[in-house]
Amino acid sequence: MSDRPDALLPFPEGAVLGPYGIELDGVALSALAEEHGTPLYVHDAASIRTRAAAVAAAVRDAPSGGRAAFALKAQSALAVLRLVREAGLGADCASAGEIEAARRAGFEGASLVIHGNAKCAADLAAALDADAGLVVLDGRNEAERLGALCRARGRTQDVLVRIAPGIEVDTHRHIATGHHGSKFGVTPAEGAALLRDLPAGLVGRGLHVHLGSQVLDPEPLVAAARWLPAFAKAEGIPLEVLDVGGGLGIRYTPDQPQPDPGAHTQALVAAIAAVCGDEGLAVPEIVVEPGRSIVGTSGVTLYRVVGVKTAGDGSTWVAVDGGMGDNLRVGLYGADYAPVLAERPTAEPTGRYRLAGRHCESTDVLAEDVPLADPAVGDVVAVPATGAYHQTMAHTYNLFGRPAAVLVDGGAARVITRRESVDDLFARDV
Ligand SMILES: Cc1ncc(COP(=O)(O)O)c(C=O)c1O
Repeated sequence: MSDRPDALLPFPEGAVLGPYGIELDGVALSALAEEHGTPLYVHDAASIRTRAAAVAAAVRDAPSGGRAAFALKAQSALAVLRLVREAGLGADCASAGEIEAARRAGFEGASLVIHGNAKCAADLAAALDADAGLVVLDGRNEAERLGALCRARGRTQDVLVRIAPGIEVDTHRHIATGHHGSKFGVTPAEGAALLRDLPAGLVGRGLHVHLGSQVLDPEPLVAAARWLPAFAKAEGIPLEVLDVGGGLGIRYTPDQPQPDPGAHTQALVAAIAAVCGDEGLAVPEIVVEPGRSIVGTSGVTLYRVVGVKTAGDGSTWVAVDGGMGDNLRVGLYGADYAPVLAERPTAEPTGRYRLAGRHCESTDVLAEDVPLADPAVGDVVAVPATGAYHQTMAHTYNLFGRPAAVLVDGGAARVITRRESVDDLFARDV
């Protein structure tokens, strides 16, 4: 049981209440807002290191070994990627751009797992240029294009085939990916047929499955891991490598559970080892691809209150200097957050407020029904659990520049992504 106040539960594990409100590693969030401006992404290095190391250890201890490839779509600031690499993870990349980010962060090609349901020529070429360890095929056309590229280069490429097994997970339908009808992967039957008959140049190593994201009840993820070896045996296809994707959820609001990524990875490894034992199969090399569960909890977004007003229906809007430009998840999936005032997160609420973003869309509302203590212009609002799928999804709608990001590490904070300037906004106009 945690003795932290409820309001702090979705914040990084080391967050505490100090004299100036919420502190990370001895650094007050309000001081970060003052020094670096808002909106500001704050990432906690200790949380990222601990989570990444636990997952890396769990796959290292698997009977036939394994690798954990961090999903760059969740977070791709190079400083964060370096932390993740140093903790022992590889990289799951879904574009030529993400492959380049992995290269710049120092990942070895062999540690890269390449994804994408519509890989273009540039993505496939980048994968080969990087000597990626595994390319995960999304269908036969892609296999043919990659095989041709390999033959033209006189080389081979290890591949997995992504299948959508029709196992449902309890998450928002926009982040479910393993159901029948998903745009990702192929049917199990088609995947088996493709693995049996790969174009020359491709070396089939096994299967991949990723059921969805922000999964708080991991049982279906474990069930898929149990199902795959038996499926491969029944189909008579090779399973030297089994990639069970990512998907483990995090706590966004105090009432949610906080699954442990290390323990979850151990459970996956144990389930695969057990079913392989039952089926008389050699345990495959196990690959996992966590994203959110490594970096989501580490992140906090800071905003400044710029206006408070009461609407015609009696509700009170608290408008902040950010919104859908730095947090797309509310608009995309109706995601819930538990914002607090950074300097008085546990003060007795004076009401329930609606947190308005600054963009010209009525849906740009960061959170509804938020209990706050007398919010006023100039207050710093802290939104926890924003380390994954926020910075990577940021955009410049209304020509607001994207926020800066700082990394808190060893009792100090440093800028890892500078704020996008007005000149940056026009850098591509010709
Ligand atoms: C193929 C694949 N692997 C891994 C991930 C990472 O998922 P998560 O961030 O939920 O762990 C995703 C996310 O959508 C994905 O599509």
